[in-house]
Amino acid sequence: MKITLIEGPLEQAETEALVVLVFEGRKEDRFAAAPLFDSGEIKGKALELTLLHHAPGVAAQRVLLAGAGKPEKFDSAELRRLAGAAVRHLKPKSIKQIALVLEGDSATAKFVRAAVEGAILGEYDPDRYKTGNDKISVDSFAVVVPRSSAALKEAADEGRIIAEAQNFTRNLVNEPANRLTPTKVAEAAQQMAAEYGLGCEVLDRSRMEALGMGALLGVAQGSDEPPALIVVRYRPTEMRSNAHLGLVGKGVTFDTGGISIKPAEGMEKMKYDMAGGGSMLGAMRALAQLKPPLPVTLFMPCVENMPGSRAQRPGDIVTAMSGKTIEVINTDAEGRLILADALTYARQQGCTHLVDAATLTGAIVVALGHLNVGLFASNDDLRDRVLAAAKAEGERMWPMPLDEDYKETYLKSPFADLPNVGGRWGGAITAAMFLKEFAEETPWVHLDIAGTAWVDDAKPYAAKGPSGVPLRTLVRLAMAWKD
Ligand code: BES
Ligand code: ZN
Ligand code: ZN
Repeated sequence: MKITLIEGPLEQAETEALVVLVFEGRKEDRFAAAPLFDSGEIKGKALELTLLHHAPGVAAQRVLLAGAGKPEKFDSAELRRLAGAAVRHLKPKSIKQIALVLEGDSATAKFVRAAVEGAILGEYDPDRYKTGNDKISVDSFAVVVPRSSAALKEAADEGRIIAEAQNFTRNLVNEPANRLTPTKVAEAAQQMAAEYGLGCEVLDRSRMEALGMGALLGVAQGSDEPPALIVVRYRPTEMRSNAHLGLVGKGVTFDTGGISIKPAEGMEKMKYDMAGGGSMLGAMRALAQLKPPLPVTLFMPCVENMPGSRAQRPGDIVTAMSGKTIEVINTDAEGRLILADALTYARQQGCTHLVDAATLTGAIVVALGHLNVGLFASNDDLRDRVLAAAKAEGERMWPMPLDEDYKETYLKSPFADLPNVGGRWGGAITAAMFLKEFAEETPWVHLDIAGTAWVDDAKPYAAKGPSGVPLRTLVRLAMAWKD
């Protein structure tokens, strides 16, 4: 989708559909819309959409009145959703050209960026494997502002880079596991890195063996598909930071559960068990273009969790790269095993701060539903930075506890240093506690995205399928970095 900025007046914008925001309690007098407000047909409620044909006084073929809700509650997150909903409303009508008007207080960089993001994210549909010629797309999206400027153009560009990266992530996450094996993820990472000037290295099984990554290898051994530890490096041209941010993302291309096999119902969804790493690959793609001031390295351990004849069994004891031994009680708790070795490797590679993202536990969905990412932190400053970035990006996250006595109470094995599961209670917390053992003293944040990486019910502004969360938070965290 082509993105442009148009300088007003909106009456002259030639487009197939002109999107104009209307607010609750503020009557729109233009476009002969006043009677619609008087009769109560239009209220201006959030995401309420009304399409007008032959609106007087405008060059546009149609005007879409887009409800923005109460003016005092309107923010960039609301606009992102609204732009997405407008595009999703117009796209099935074969409208190819859309322009959204920002007037008054909302004609700022922040809102331009959000509108562009919303439009690109809203245009996305996970239909690449549907054949037939009924597939349609929106060709261009413009933001109409009273006065154009370099800052607004830059904001539009940033929005495009970020949302395109998010759709790149969504495409990867949506790929079925027969088409996206660990080897294929590595190829996609290499191709993306080459395109955007990032470093990329893929550690294969023999390198993992040499490094002693027994936890990762234990999970991988149940599948004929070889594992891959993908490392993608961004280095700023001019070093303006002493920090080195490590992103560690779960990359299970399919999670059958292994020998502790999952029930059949809903198992098809487990293709999204690489969404943590997938969102980080997308974040790296955006960062390569936006150029944050500090080095950022992605570590994405990729495996397929299968119950093959060589698969690890409950009761097996593996030795992680850090030297700690782990009793594998449940082979379905594989995410923490592969992340354990990736965290150790990230520390060994000199990362000073770590953020991991993983579709780690069903328990986080029980705790927070599908609306909040579960956030666990070993460091208050890094936690606050991630929370601030998430808030600014409209990606909701909720802080969860990580008190040491969760470990003493729930994470005990009679035979090894740690068991890989903690029992019935506080499953998301004990999973995080397990990871903390491998982040050690490096400031670390863990994001459990099991409930938020996949949209089960389509929204007016988002298709059913992968959400791309927490890509925007990660990008903002790096872009806003100050030592
Ligand atoms: N990939 C799953 C977690 C998951 C569950 C993601 C539901 C998305 C939706 C993870 O590997 C897993 O199976 N976790 C187990 C852990 C348990 C065995 C301690 C779980 O949550 O049931
Ligand atoms: Zn699992
Ligand atoms: Zn899993």
